[in-house]
Amino acid sequence: MRNKNKNPEEIRQIPLSSPFIQQDDIKAVVDVLKTRWLSLGPKLPEFEEKFAEYIGTKYAVAVNSGTSALHLAVKSLGIGPGDEVIVTPFSFVASANCVLFEGATPVFVDVEPETFNIDPKKIEEKITSKTKAIIPVDIFGRSSDKEAILKIAKKHNLKVIEDSAEALAAEYKGKKVGTFGDCAIFAFYPNKQMTTGEGGMLVTDNKDIYDLCSSYRNQGRGAGGEWHEYIRLGYNYRLSDINCALGISQLQKIDKILKMRANVAAEYTKRLSKIKGIKVPFDSTKDLKVSWFVYVMQVDASKGIDREKFMEELKKRGVACSDYFNSIHLMGFYKEKYSFKPGDFPVCESIAKSTIALPFYTGMSKDDIQYVCDKVEEVQAYLSGR
Ligand SMILES: Cc1ncc(COP(=O)(O)O)c(C=O)c1O
Repeated sequence: MRNKNKNPEEIRQIPLSSPFIQQDDIKAVVDVLKTRWLSLGPKLPEFEEKFAEYIGTKYAVAVNSGTSALHLAVKSLGIGPGDEVIVTPFSFVASANCVLFEGATPVFVDVEPETFNIDPKKIEEKITSKTKAIIPVDIFGRSSDKEAILKIAKKHNLKVIEDSAEALAAEYKGKKVGTFGDCAIFAFYPNKQMTTGEGGMLVTDNKDIYDLCSSYRNQGRGAGGEWHEYIRLGYNYRLSDINCALGISQLQKIDKILKMRANVAAEYTKRLSKIKGIKVPFDSTKDLKVSWFVYVMQVDASKGIDREKFMEELKKRGVACSDYFNSIHLMGFYKEKYSFKPGDFPVCESIAKSTIALPFYTGMSKDDIQYVCDKVEEVQAYLSGR
């Protein structure tokens, strides 16, 4: 079936993502704007305390992005030049960049074909005397294998930083992600389950990590010290009270949001699993409760279906989509710096070549989901010559 030559204006446009902002969110932000405390006011500790309580950690440090949170996590663990950190090549680039920020070396380990998360069976062969930490990512809202990773970390005396940026409230064996490692990070860009516009959070049970990160985030200020008393090199990674107020408001309804997102995912899977040649996301097992971040399907490259062409055809039909994610080790400067080549991490590379993120957001209507699924079916039929 060919896309009829419609005037583009007549083609329905479905966005890739859309934040879930309601009147209470708007009021929360406007209320802060009416005060004198636009930053470093009462909303910052309130957001941190409520977030830590929700996750189940002792402490939380709000920062201006998930990337900043990752940077502070690496820095607060004392990782630096000469050290190696185990990371996954299938993630957002910041998951590996944060190691480079401190002059250490990211060491990639291939992923599992079903969950797309770091494969614990392949970690130990990459551990050397220089390895200091593992950064498992809970990709697309699905927990990595925490038990296996923690066992390896304990055996080799390694730190664990959970990159849970995409997995707020996802669970591993009944326990929320973010409560397993030495520390963990979350992110609140507008495509995330909850948003603060831009923003991130580091959580930990470790008072030393908490104190260090609180100081680093605010120019290296000493706790309780005078405004201009800086006791270490720090940054401006602060999150304003305007952002924090939005965070508090979003967090208040996060369980409702997650339920709505799970409903959208279920509706997609019901429809898409009937289309021959389309692989729907890995179903949760009893150990894994998914927190739906994105809905990523796979096309069958082995049957000659070209992912780029598939996306092009979807976009022509008004369906926004994206290649989530490209292999980090094959990106420009990683490839150059470490001489990586295609085939180095074959599982990651084959996933990266076949995945397509479809429009996905809280409250997406059944009608819009239906439309996207119709177009996926149409493009699949078109490209497979049916
Ligand atoms: C896995 C992962 N880690 C880290 C980040 C970085 O978060 P931010 O964009 O807030 O800096 C993201 C952002 O999408 C992410 O997906």
